Amino acid sequence: MSKRPFVIFGAFAAICVLVIPFIALGKAGDAQSGDVQVAARDEGGKALVFENCGQCHTLAAAGIDGIVGPNLDQLLVPSGANSAQMYEGLYTRVIQALTCGVKGRMPKGILVGDEAESAAAFVAAYAGQIGKGPTVDTTTAQHPDPPDCG
Ligand code: HEC
Repeated sequence: MSKRPFVIFGAFAAICVLVIPFIALGKAGDAQSGDVQVAARDEGGKALVFENCGQCHTLAAAGIDGIVGPNLDQLLVPSGANSAQMYEGLYTRVIQALTCGVKGRMPKGILVGDEAESAAAFVAAYAGQIGKGPTVDTTTAQHPDPPDCG
């Protein structure tokens, strides 16, 4: 009698036992982290962005997928390659949006003060960083003052 059916069944069983849970766990992980490695120091900023920006924006690192406003991964880092050199400019752009609003379509003051700074730092360090971690240490990076909206 041929052993072949047993070998095929064995291979099939191995696939079920090993591969399927691996795929399922990988998917669950993606939904939570957006496949971005968030440093412990940035969890507070992530929570602020998750709670206050998610109804409108997509940002993989915060696990948010809103569609009312622009996708922040794509808008802020169109090349898909964020870097430490871009951090200050991105931070300034986000703190400007939060402080002054955007063209009457994004309300100003969704977050203010320390919370606005923490959210802006998170977005600047993680936008476009899919499959990667932060571009800078947000606790030591330069954070220019919020703009005067006039
Ligand atoms: C009520 C929906 C809404 C919420 C909540 C919201 N935004 Fe926005 N945001 C928008 C819209 C809409 C735009 C695009 C405005 C336009 O350009 O027409 C925008 C634009 C932006 C921009 C781009 C500004 C630029 O320079 O082009 C940034 C950055 C931004 N939002 C960050 C945030 C962050 C961070 C949060 C959470 C703290 C947030 N937004 C919460 C609706 C929202």
